[in-house]
Amino acid sequence: MDKLLIRGGRPLQGEVLISGAKNAALPEMCAALLTNEPVTLLNVPRLQDVRTMRKLLDNMGCVTETHGDRGGMSFRAPDSINPEAPYELVKTMRASVLALGPLLARFGRAKVSLPGGCAIGSRPVDQHIKGLQAMGAEIDVEHGYMLARLPPGRTRLKGARIATDMITVTGTENFLMAAALAEGETILENAAQEPEISDLAEMLIKMGARIEGHGSSRIRIEGVERLHGCTHEVVADRIEAGTFLCAVAATGGDVMLRHACAHHLDAVIEKLREAGAEVEALGGPDCEGGPKAHAIHVRSLGARAMQAQSFRTSEYPAFPTDMQAQFMALNCVAKGSSMVTETIFENRFMHVNELTRLGAAIHVDGRVAMIDGVQKLSGATVMATDLRASASLVIAGLVAEGETLIDRIYHLDRGYDQMEEKLRGIGADIERIKS
Ligand code: EPZ
Repeated sequence: MDKLLIRGGRPLQGEVLISGAKNAALPEMCAALLTNEPVTLLNVPRLQDVRTMRKLLDNMGCVTETHGDRGGMSFRAPDSINPEAPYELVKTMRASVLALGPLLARFGRAKVSLPGGCAIGSRPVDQHIKGLQAMGAEIDVEHGYMLARLPPGRTRLKGARIATDMITVTGTENFLMAAALAEGETILENAAQEPEISDLAEMLIKMGARIEGHGSSRIRIEGVERLHGCTHEVVADRIEAGTFLCAVAATGGDVMLRHACAHHLDAVIEKLREAGAEVEALGGPDCEGGPKAHAIHVRSLGARAMQAQSFRTSEYPAFPTDMQAQFMALNCVAKGSSMVTETIFENRFMHVNELTRLGAAIHVDGRVAMIDGVQKLSGATVMATDLRASASLVIAGLVAEGETLIDRIYHLDRGYDQMEEKLRGIGADIERIKS
């Protein structure tokens, strides 16, 4: 297994290009299943989860190809497809469940493995099942698979009013894709509002879907008989951008993040400004005009000039759970004490034990972590446990004195596009040690 070796203590200076969003690219790759016409995605990030999703689509009989160095990827899902997502692939990437809605909507049947749990929580998909059943699907769970089909005599899902027990991002995405081809109107009453949802909706609208209200908690979809192909540019990855913002705040420095839209990170940027970092949004008040029209400039005098910030994670537009571990790394070396509350996942403090090995002072009580900022962290060997925990350890390693060796960085490779190259490009002393 590859490792990352970081020699800490260097400020970050220069410019970074933020890649397309993992959590937009994955549902948008599945959206290609909704038509037999060619679909092209631009600005697709180069990372493991995208490669896994491509393998899943190829496995079904999709014709996929990459082209150009701008992260272009094309898809064509023929009428004869094997509507199956096998356990071997689903167990490595939970987002495979996003195939369920499109397969049901277009082919009327699907066999998708239950994802199983993951490091950060049990992460059931019961709400996905509940919503699709409301749209008329018959779904049985047998031998670890969801066996979904339309009832005899029906050739399409039917529109429904769906109100899930809690807000679910991929659940909302599954319903959006299923409703696009359903018969009649679907209303999502407590839809997720993440920018990735809006980006998927914009893509579906380009394909001929009739959607309104995306980006709010209530989305209305009027189903159509068929969708056509499109070309769509994947929105910039706000979590990758937020990760770099926390890294610069911690190490000190002056960095321009290209293609990053500050508007998608309001809650995180607000906390960074309160901590003492200077963050400037470039390119207009919203995120119109696509990724290239936006940038974020961040300056900091380093963690010891920062005031630790308490926060609690919640659904967008509140502070994102996917930024919790990274901001905690900053709090570990900022001045003062802070309290971090994780309200979304039941086990998303796996990074705490590893940060403690680097000298952090953290006490966890259930879903609350109390952090006392320390003068310095000292390099050590640590182990990545999940995607964002890995990013947290990278940030801590960048500020720790001496060498930090991070093991099991396949977790990081799932969701970050060339992170060590990007960090080296702005002055970090970081290298990958191949196993
Ligand atoms: C998406 O996961 C993201 N993944 C996650 O990003 C992100 O952390 C999460 O949303 C929350 O923002 C992708 O978009 C591919 P949820 P998802 O359904 O959709 C419970 C990363 O680091 N729930 O919004 O799986 C669930 O257990 C990853 O990039 C049910 O109980 O999350 C959780 O407590 C990690 N039943 C809460 O709802 C369901 O059927 C929110 O989960 C669905 C969800």
